[in-house]
Amino acid sequence: CKTSELEGITVLVTAGGTQENIDPVRYIGNRSSGKMGYAIAEQAVRMGANVILVSAPTSLSVPSGVEFVPVDSALSMQEAVESRYKNVDVVVMAAAVSDFRVLHKAEQKIKKMESMTLELVKNPDILQGLGSHKEHQILVGFAAETEHVIKYGQDKVARKNLDMLVANDVSKSNAGFNVDTNEGYFLYPDKEPKEMANMKKSELAQYIMKEVVELVANKHL
Ligand code: C5P
Repeated sequence: CKTSELEGITVLVTAGGTQENIDPVRYIGNRSSGKMGYAIAEQAVRMGANVILVSAPTSLSVPSGVEFVPVDSALSMQEAVESRYKNVDVVVMAAAVSDFRVLHKAEQKIKKMESMTLELVKNPDILQGLGSHKEHQILVGFAAETEHVIKYGQDKVARKNLDMLVANDVSKSNAGFNVDTNEGYFLYPDKEPKEMANMKKSELAQYIMKEVVELVANKHL
C-alpha cells in the first residue's frame, strides 16, 4: 500500500554492477544482482517519493513508478548521478561500482592470442565525489566488508561524508552479493551503530527507508 511519508522528496537510487568495456563484445563486471537497490527504489515509490533509478545492467524488471536511467560503466553512472544531484534530496548508492576501467578500449573485437595484458586505471569514487560537494542532500552508502565491519564502515562514513552507511558482512553466505537476504549494521556519523538481523532484502529496504524518513525529517527538507 502507498503512503505519503516521502511526498515531495526526490530519491535517486543507484543499483547493479557497473560494466567496463574491454572491446565491443567483452567487459569486466562483478556479481552484483541489483536486488538491494531495486528493493529500495520500490520501497521509496511506496512511500510516495519521486524516484530516479540509475541502474547498471541487471536481469530485473524496471519497478513501476520510477524514472529509469540505464547506464553501464562507472563513468556513465557518475555522469547520470552528478547531472541530477542538484535537484535530488536523497541519494542511495546501492550500486557496485567497478574500481577500475580499461585504459585503452579496443575498437574491434580482440583476436585470440597466447597471452595479453589489460592496463586498468582507477575509476572515480562517485559517492565520495557527491560527499565532497554535499549541500542539502542526504547520502546513504553501502559497504561490503569481510572483516572489521563497524570500524571499516565508520571510516567510510567519515571519508565519504555520509549520513548513513549500510555495512554488510559478505563473508557470510546469506548476506551481500547475489542472494535474496542481507544483514549487517546501519552506521551514522553521530549515532551508535544499529545491528540488523538477517532478513529479506525487501524487508531491509523498508528499514533503510524508515531511517531515510527520519534523516529527512531532521534536516527539514
Ligand atoms: O569504498 P567502497 O567501495 O567499499 O564503498 C562502497 C560505497 O561507495 C557504495 O555505496 C558504492 O556504491 C560507492 N562507490 C562509488 N564509486 C566507486 C566505488 C564505490 O560510488 N568507485
